[in-house]
Amino acid sequence: MNNALKDYIKLCQSRTENALEHRLPSADILPRKLHEAMRYTVLNGGKRMRPLLTYCTGQVLGIPPEALDAPACAVEFIHVYSLIHDDLPAMDDDDLRRGKPTCHIAYDEATAILTGDALQALAFQILATDPTITTPADHRLKMITALGKASGSQGMVGGQAIDLESVGKKISLPELENMHIHKTGALIRASIQLATLAQPDIDATHIKNLDHYAKCIGLSFQVKDDILDEESDTETLGKTQGKDQSNDKPTYPALLGLNGAKHKAQELHEQALESLAIFGSEADLLRALSLYIIERTH
Ligand code: IPE
Ligand code: IPE
Ligand code: MG
Ligand code: MG
Ligand code: MG
Repeated sequence: MNNALKDYIKLCQSRTENALEHRLPSADILPRKLHEAMRYTVLNGGKRMRPLLTYCTGQVLGIPPEALDAPACAVEFIHVYSLIHDDLPAMDDDDLRRGKPTCHIAYDEATAILTGDALQALAFQILATDPTITTPADHRLKMITALGKASGSQGMVGGQAIDLESVGKKISLPELENMHIHKTGALIRASIQLATLAQPDIDATHIKNLDHYAKCIGLSFQVKDDILDEESDTETLGKTQGKDQSNDKPTYPALLGLNGAKHKAQELHEQALESLAIFGSEADLLRALSLYIIERTH
């Protein structure tokens, strides 16, 4: 990873931690167990890739990070809710997440379901009311709509439904791509969309190209996640390695082999770079991020 990106990631991660902490209900407020579980699952050291993408897009468009804290938190809250539910026994049945016991192990299943529910509601409450969002009301509404679409049955939740239906089945490459675009790509795309919506008067071509970039890295992110599940180890990942195979999930390595999957990730990275060709050095961090996504170790 290049040094500029390393520094920027550190900066954004610490900005994100503060912004998230500040927007989570205190563990002293009733119901304490639920609020404790929300804090436990959110404040436990994820990569914060989605907020990072929001801030990085802001950098391209000249939007100050203060104006993006709320959208960045909203998308991360949806992401953490998706992880909590993804780990439940009814779904992937995972014990370990971000190097710690998953929410239903640390607490209990009912609390994990409710923690996800509450984080989802909080995400939309933030987009609707957070005073740091200074864009006109119609743009705030567009942000709420974009996140709703990306999270729901035609976005992440829809992708998760396809994922569960596909267990033990042989699906085609287009079907696998469709599943990944929805379960992971949609929210990554929204992270970038929310930043473009924070700037009411951006050029339509810029929006289109940033959206194409977002689609490419949204897919490459899950292709790499599948690769890591196969070739990394539990300690580095902070989640149980080899779960896709043991759960009989369709993945890119399962369909294309490890080399085929790596080739696909590289191809998507190149397409992502092409979409950024209209930008100058202000998009260098987005370029470096696309590479980081396919080269990361966890
Ligand atoms: C894991 O996401 C789940 C997927 C959508 C692939 P991340 O790899 O971003 O997980 P954290 O947030 O860093 O823990
Ligand atoms: C999860 O995909 C995508 C979500 C919407 C959470 P995975 O099931 O592959 O994510 P991990 O590997 O458990 O993080
Ligand atoms: Mg899953
Ligand atoms: Mg999983
Ligand atoms: Mg995975």
